[in-house]
Amino acid sequence: MSVPRRGVVLAGGLGTRLFPATLAVSKQLLPVYDKPMIYYPLSTLMLAGHREVLIITAPRDLPLFEQLLGDGGQWGVKLSYAVQAEPRGIAQALTLAGPFLGGQACTLILGDNLFHGPDITRQLLAAQARPTGATIFASEVSDPGRYGVVSFGPGGAVTSLEEKPLRPASSYAVTGLYTYGPDAVDLAGSLPVSARGEFEITDLNRLYLERGELTVECLERGSVWMDAGTHDSLLEASSFVQAIERRQGVKLACPEEIALHHGWLSPDEVLLRAEQLGGPYAAYLRRVAQRQGASGGSI
Ligand code: DAU
Repeated sequence: MSVPRRGVVLAGGLGTRLFPATLAVSKQLLPVYDKPMIYYPLSTLMLAGHREVLIITAPRDLPLFEQLLGDGGQWGVKLSYAVQAEPRGIAQALTLAGPFLGGQACTLILGDNLFHGPDITRQLLAAQARPTGATIFASEVSDPGRYGVVSFGPGGAVTSLEEKPLRPASSYAVTGLYTYGPDAVDLAGSLPVSARGEFEITDLNRLYLERGELTVECLERGSVWMDAGTHDSLLEASSFVQAIERRQGVKLACPEEIALHHGWLSPDEVLLRAEQLGGPYAAYLRRVAQRQGASGGSI
């Protein structure tokens, strides 16, 4: 039985690593193959049952996010928005989300992180069932120094948690997906500013570690985690989505399909959405609506 919790997508920042592509538009609105980047983290939350989601954006980008995503009614979800005046760190997302969370637990995901695989939904649902503490998700990578890094002792206990270490103690990167109990807002508010001037998510997670309240879920080998924050990783993420979609004839991160699967939209509502959109995406929506209408469908 899942504990009520709300979803937060952090989609602010300046996207400086993608300049000049992000000089005029938010990184999280750039396409990853055939849809805007933010569809992917939003879909991860929706697959795990989230219907109330807060999107945090930079002030400049808010109108475009509202234009793209609206109030979420087109997917049977409720979207709200908050603005981060300046990129002062990922942990600040929790402080900004305080009024939206209203004392509830939450799942936080970074707007440039892409997850793929059914085990991720299963692991996220398990994390969301824990009413207190924090859960982070680790993935083995070849270049851990680019990320938060978690290392384990012989019995699997966490021995360290460091942000972008020069000498990583393990190959396990901390992904941009986190679940937190209701105390996260206050704990995030108590953090000192780091040497680089940010409220670090790794510092928050270390607080949970020190209190014995941090769970680390390692992603299964068949699960895929990518971030799309650099030119190369954006291209790699697009190529990955293209390869799966063309080979299997399915779409990754299609919010209408996820909503249909959950029963948040009817097949007729998906067909209506297809009318509004047109193009190959609409053709796909027609297919999934007709299949669901005929057989009940699965995802
Ligand atoms: O992708 C996972 C990694 O994300 C973790 O392993 C690291 O522990 C975590 O610090 C973070 O590292 P990055 O170097 O990727 O963080 P970046 O500054 O690129 O921010 C990640 C996303 O969050 C990006 O889409 C922009 C957004 N963001 C970031 C900051 C610092 C904001 O919206 N506001 C912010 O203040």
